[in-house]
Amino acid sequence: MTAGFVIAVDGPAAAGKGTLARALADAYSLPYLDTGLLYRAVARRVLDAGLRPEDAAEEAALRLVPEDMQRNDLRVPEVDRAASIVAAQPAVRAALLERQRVFGREGGAVVDGRDIGTVVFPDAPVKLFITASSQIRAMRRHNQLNVGVELEGAALEAAIAEIESRDTRDSQRDVAPLCPADDALTINTDGMSAAEVFQKACDYIALRRS
Ligand code: DC
Repeated sequence: MTAGFVIAVDGPAAAGKGTLARALADAYSLPYLDTGLLYRAVARRVLDAGLRPEDAAEEAALRLVPEDMQRNDLRVPEVDRAASIVAAQPAVRAALLERQRVFGREGGAVVDGRDIGTVVFPDAPVKLFITASSQIRAMRRHNQLNVGVELEGAALEAAIAEIESRDTRDSQRDVAPLCPADDALTINTDGMSAAEVFQKACDYIALRRS
C-alpha cells in the first residue's frame, strides 16, 4: 500500500508528536502532514456554519480546501473540543482517508495523528506512538500558549480534565480509536527532552532501515 517511506507518529493530544514529527521530517527530508489539522479544519467549518459538531459533518470534510488548514484560528479551545467530536464520525474519517494516503504514497512522508499506524498507513515501515501523562501534557500545552505563567491549583486540574476528556473521546470511539499499532514503538516522553525523544526515534528508524 505504501510506496514511499512513511513514518507514522501517533499518540494523544500534546504528547510531543508535532515537535518530533517536524524534526524527523527535517532530518530525513520528507514532507510533514499534521492530520489533526484536517479534523480541526472540518470542525472550524462546522462551527462557522453555525452547526453543532455532533451534527453530520461529512459535507464539511468533503469540501475542505488547502487554505482551510492554514487558518490561524484552528488551535483554540472550541476547536480542540469540536475536532474530537467530528473526528468520531465514520463519514468524516472516510472522507479524509484518501487525502492522507495520497500525501504519503509518492515519495514518503512523516504523518502525525491518532490512527496513522493502525488505519491510514498500516504498512508504514516505522510507527511511533508518543505518549506522556495527562499532567505533563496539560502543562506542556499550557506553556506553549502562556509563556512564563505557571499552571497550578484549580486551573491545572481543569486543564488535566479537558485533556483527559479529549483522550476519552479519541480512544473510545468506534472507528479508528487512538491506540498504538501492534508493531509501534511506544515512547513515554515524561521526563524526556525533545532532543532525547528525537534521538530515540532516530535510533529506532536506523534499526528499521538496516
Ligand atoms: O492532533 P490534534 O490535537 O490537532 O487533533 C485534533 C483532533 O482530531 C483530536 O481530537 C483527534 C482528532 N484526530 C483524529 O481523530 N485522527 C487523526 N489522525 C488526527 C487527529
